[in-house]
Amino acid sequence: MPALKVTAPAKTILFGEHAVVYGHPAIAIPVNQLKTTITIQPNPWGASNQITIHAPDIGLSTALEELPNQHPFSTAFSVVMQHLGMTTYPACTVKINSTIPIASGLGSSASLSVALIKAFSQFAGADLPSQTLIDLSFQLETIYHGTPSGIDNSVIALNQGILFQKGKPVQALNSAKPLPIVIANSGVAGNTKQAVAGVRESWQHNKPYFDALFQKIGSTTWEALQALENGDEIRLGQLMNSNHRDLQTLRVSHPKIDRLVETALKHDALGAKLCGGGLGGNMICLIHAEQAGEIQKALMQAGAAQTYLTQVESREI
Ligand code: MEV
Repeated sequence: MPALKVTAPAKTILFGEHAVVYGHPAIAIPVNQLKTTITIQPNPWGASNQITIHAPDIGLSTALEELPNQHPFSTAFSVVMQHLGMTTYPACTVKINSTIPIASGLGSSASLSVALIKAFSQFAGADLPSQTLIDLSFQLETIYHGTPSGIDNSVIALNQGILFQKGKPVQALNSAKPLPIVIANSGVAGNTKQAVAGVRESWQHNKPYFDALFQKIGSTTWEALQALENGDEIRLGQLMNSNHRDLQTLRVSHPKIDRLVETALKHDALGAKLCGGGLGGNMICLIHAEQAGEIQKALMQAGAAQTYLTQVESREI
């Protein structure tokens, strides 16, 4: 059995986070500058089911069987074993690395889930179709995030821009031209589970108000899809700003995120918003390519911990 290496990207949400949990559409893209990498080396002299895990980023080096059942590594392993109907697994050493900042809204946990499912299944000789990869990684996401929409693991498993709506087939993004996006990490740890739970609590207290707000975010997303297809980055920027104001109303932004959004706009970004679960984490802004250096510098001066340059592009699913 040969050694194996798999990767899974990070992601960012361009439009529609939170509303997507309530059945509205959202647009997400993979961020391949950041990724989870898993390598599996066979141990030809080891006994079956002897699996060693090395995850130096979190200081973990252990036998898989020593981990609690609820640990992401153990859960991913059992989900794959169950799906493939296997009871024994070849002895191996699994090394897990990630360059995705955690608690940042960039999908570190979904990327880990997808990479683990891909690695454990491929090492066992199974090349899972993307829908199976999405379904199995969603099982992990529900364990860690309570009531996720499924957008994070879908965009990461497909590794391409998507329009996602719960219960509907995923649609490939069709952007008329590549659109540069700067991502800035506020350095404040976000908490998607807490943010999603907080929004649910608000919704439960005033359903008509929040349903209308989710509906408005959904309409913004549909309009953004049109603007992407038409290559209308001016309108796209305006829609991003509107989406950010709605996320502020949902109380999932953070003063540091708002400061970074204001900084980007002051430096003539076309639009800017929080991305992902919020309460910290990252923001994104849509820019003209030639502005990248200046805007990244301004965001760092305004307190960003890190910035990344990526772009929206089209590929077939
Ligand atoms: C998290 O990346 C996006 C949220 O909409 C939650 C979800 O869709 O599961 C906040």
